[in-house]
Amino acid sequence: MENGIGEVLITEAEIKHKVSELAQRLTVDYEHKGLTIIGILNGSLIFLSDLIRHIPFPVRIDTIRANAYAGDSIFPKGEVDIINSISLSIKDEHVLIVDDILDTGKTLSKIVQIIEKHNPLSIEVCVLLNKAARREVEIVPDYCCFEIENEFVVGYGLDFDNKYRNLPYIAVLGEYR
Ligand code: IMP
Ligand code: MG
Repeated sequence: MENGIGEVLITEAEIKHKVSELAQRLTVDYEHKGLTIIGILNGSLIFLSDLIRHIPFPVRIDTIRANAYAGDSIFPKGEVDIINSISLSIKDEHVLIVDDILDTGKTLSKIVQIIEKHNPLSIEVCVLLNKAARREVEIVPDYCCFEIENEFVVGYGLDFDNKYRNLPYIAVLGEYR
């Protein structure tokens, strides 16, 4: 096992299966009306790129860059910085916001508010992981691949101190500091 990594919670095969199932659901729900996907960087990087390659109809893609953590901490700093916003026009478009994980809910609820100001026809939220026990701001994902317990996890885009995003599976963070 790689240095600093604990138990593997979700394997690469399990992720692949769920991501392709999710793409099928999105196809049923959006193919006839069109879709603009907005990924939250950096965490959604791997999930977003795998998901969109399973979608068989033309989607528009944009990203927002947000930052909820201060450096090498597993505790959110309590406020969310938006570093880069979208550049596509989403007025009268159906929008799906994609992130790695819903934790306290602060990041996604802030991003939903920002996106609402662009007057899209609809906004839905899609996450790879949901850590419902940690919620501070009420927000329920419209699409979610896996529910997880209150543990700090890394891999498949999720980082600790900007490391471990490249792991192809999701694991609990082991010893750190
Ligand atoms: P929230 O604003 O508390 O919902 O958290 C949003 C961001 O915190 C996510 O997009 C992740 O980048 C990060 N985050 C929350 N939980 C974890 C975790 O267990 N591992 C790695 N990053 C996490
Ligand atoms: Mg993130």
